[in-house]
Amino acid sequence: MDLKQHIRHVPDFPKPGILFYDISTLIAHGGAWKETVNRLVTAVTPMEPELLVGIESRGFLVAAPLAYLMGTGFTMVRKRGKLPGGTIHHVYDLEYGQDVVEIQADAIRPGQRVVVLDDLLATGGTLHAAVDLLRKVGANVVGAACIVELTFLGGRDRLDIPVNTLVSYD
Ligand code: PRP
Ligand code: MG
Repeated sequence: MDLKQHIRHVPDFPKPGILFYDISTLIAHGGAWKETVNRLVTAVTPMEPELLVGIESRGFLVAAPLAYLMGTGFTMVRKRGKLPGGTIHHVYDLEYGQDVVEIQADAIRPGQRVVVLDDLLATGGTLHAAVDLLRKVGANVVGAACIVELTFLGGRDRLDIPVNTLVSYD
C-alpha cells in the first residue's frame, strides 16, 4: 500500500509558503492507518524498547496504538503545565524564541530503554528536545520513529539516535 496517497498536502499552512503534510487523511482511513501502525511496529520492535514516548500532540496518536500492540505502555512528553505532580522540563531554542517540553519526574526508570514517537520529522527540533529531556530524567533513548520525514530539512542529521521513518519527501 502506498501510504503517500493518504497524506494530504495543504499549501500555505501554517504560514504562506509552507506546504503542510497532513496525516489527518491517513488516520481517517481504516486500512491505511492499520498499515501505518503495523509498519511502525515492524520498525520499532528491533529497538527492543521497554517503554514508548509520544510527543504532544500528534505523537500521542502514534505512540498509543503502538504501545497497545507491543505491550510496552507509553508516556507523554507534553508542553509546559499540562502534567500533574512532580515534573522535569527542558527549555529549547526555536527559530524565534524558546519553547519548553515536560515529563513527569517518575515516568522513566534510570537506564530504561525508550523509543520516541512522533508523526513527522521536519527540522528535528521537537525530537531533539524530547531526547534531551528524556536523557535528563535518565532514559536510555535507543531510537525514534515517525510516519513522515521531510528529508530536505535535514532533521535526521541533528539527532544522534537511529530514526526510522515510513514515508519521506525530498
Ligand atoms: C509538528 C509535528 C512534529 C513537529 C516537527 O508538531 O507534529 O511534532 O512539528 O517539526 P520539527 O521537526 O521541525 O520540530 P506541532 O508543533 O505542529 O504540534 P502538534 O503535534 O501539537 O500539532
Ligand atoms: Mg507535533
